[in-house]
Amino acid sequence: MKPTVFIARRIPAIAHHLLEEHCELRVHEGLMPPTREELLAGVQGCSGILSLLSDRIDGEVCEAAGPQLKVISNFAVGYNNMDVPELARRGIAVGNTPDVLTDATADIAVALLLCAARNFGRASQDVRNDVWKTWQPLGWIGKDLVGFGEPKKLGIVGMGRIGSAVAKRMHLGWGMQVLYTARSPKPEVDKELSATHVELPKLLEESDFVSLHVPLNDETHHLIGAPELTLMKETAVLVNTARGEIIDQDALTEALLSRSIYAAGLDVCTPEPLPADDRLLQLDNCFLVPHLGSATQATRDAMAERAAKNILAGLQDQPLPYRISI
Ligand code: NAP
Ligand code: GLV
Repeated sequence: MKPTVFIARRIPAIAHHLLEEHCELRVHEGLMPPTREELLAGVQGCSGILSLLSDRIDGEVCEAAGPQLKVISNFAVGYNNMDVPELARRGIAVGNTPDVLTDATADIAVALLLCAARNFGRASQDVRNDVWKTWQPLGWIGKDLVGFGEPKKLGIVGMGRIGSAVAKRMHLGWGMQVLYTARSPKPEVDKELSATHVELPKLLEESDFVSLHVPLNDETHHLIGAPELTLMKETAVLVNTARGEIIDQDALTEALLSRSIYAAGLDVCTPEPLPADDRLLQLDNCFLVPHLGSATQATRDAMAERAAKNILAGLQDQPLPYRISI
C-alpha cells in the first residue's frame, strides 16, 4: 500500500507528478488555507505532510497524523510556522525549499525599495484617479538611489542568501555602500562588495535604505520597533520581504504617519492580509504587495520540486536533500 501524503494546497504540478507515483495524495483544494480543524482532519493517517507557510505545524498536527508520520516539507524557505524542535523531538524529518527563491525574492526587495523611494504608490494612484494633469516640476518628488556626491548607504539586516543577493544588486548596480548585520561577519561579502559588518543601531543610524532579511524567531520578533525606527534617518526607506512580525507594525505606522522615516516597502505584514481598515493602507508613503517574493513560475516550480523531493526522501528514510536542522 502506498503511503498517504497531505498537501495543504494545490502547488505547481511538478510536485504532484513526482509524488503521485509513490504516494496517495490528499490535497486540500481551494484558495484558502485549511482551517485548523481541516488540517488536523486532513493529516490523519498520513506519512508525509507538504505544508505552506500559513499552516501551523506542531505537536498537535503530529498527534493528529499518527505514529506513521515520517516527514514534513514546507513549501517555503522560511519555517517560522513550524515547531522544529518539537518535530525533531518526535523524530520527524523536516525540510524547506532554500536557494531557488533567492533571486526572485531579492528582485522584489529591490522593486519595493525603488517603488517606495520614488513614490510609486501615490503616483500610480494619481494616474488612475485622473489627478495627473501635466508634467509637474514639483510633483511626485522622491529620493535618489544614486547620491549626488557620497554613495547612498544600504543597510542589510541579515546577510544570508537573500540579503547578500540584494546587497549585490544594489552595490554593483547602483553603487551603494553596504552595511550589514548577521550573527557572524561575512569576510567573503566584505571582500566582494566592500561591505561592513556593524551593530544594528549603527546600521539604522547611517543607512539611507534598510532591507530586512532575517528569519522570524524569538530573537527577531519586533527587531524593528519604536526605538529602532527612531534611530533611522528622516529620509530613510525601510523594506521588508522577510516576515511581518519582525517589525512592530504599530510603531512603523506611527513613524510613517509622523514622517520620522520617509517611506516603507512591504511584501509582508501582520496579519496577512491586512484588515481593510488598517491604517497602513491609508498611507501614501507605504507601498505594499501581497507576499509575492517567490512568485515567478520557474521559482515556484523549483520550490515544488524541492518540497516533493524532501517528502520522497523522508518516506524512504533517506536524509532530506533540503533539510532544516536545529
Ligand atoms: P538565510 O540564508 O538563512 O539568511 C538569514 C540571515 O539572517 C543570516 O545571514 C543570519 O546570520 C541572519 N540572522 C539570523 N538571525 C539573526 C539575528 N538575530 N540578527 C541578525 N541576523 C540574523 O535565509 P534566506 O534564505 O536569506 O531567507 C531569509 C528570510 O526571508 C526567510 O527566513 C523568510 O522568512 C524570508 N523570505 C521571504 C520571502 C517572501 O516571499 N517575501 C521569500 C523567501 C524568504 P548568519 O548568516 O550569521 O547565521
Ligand atoms: C516565503 O515567504 C518563504 O519563506 O519562502
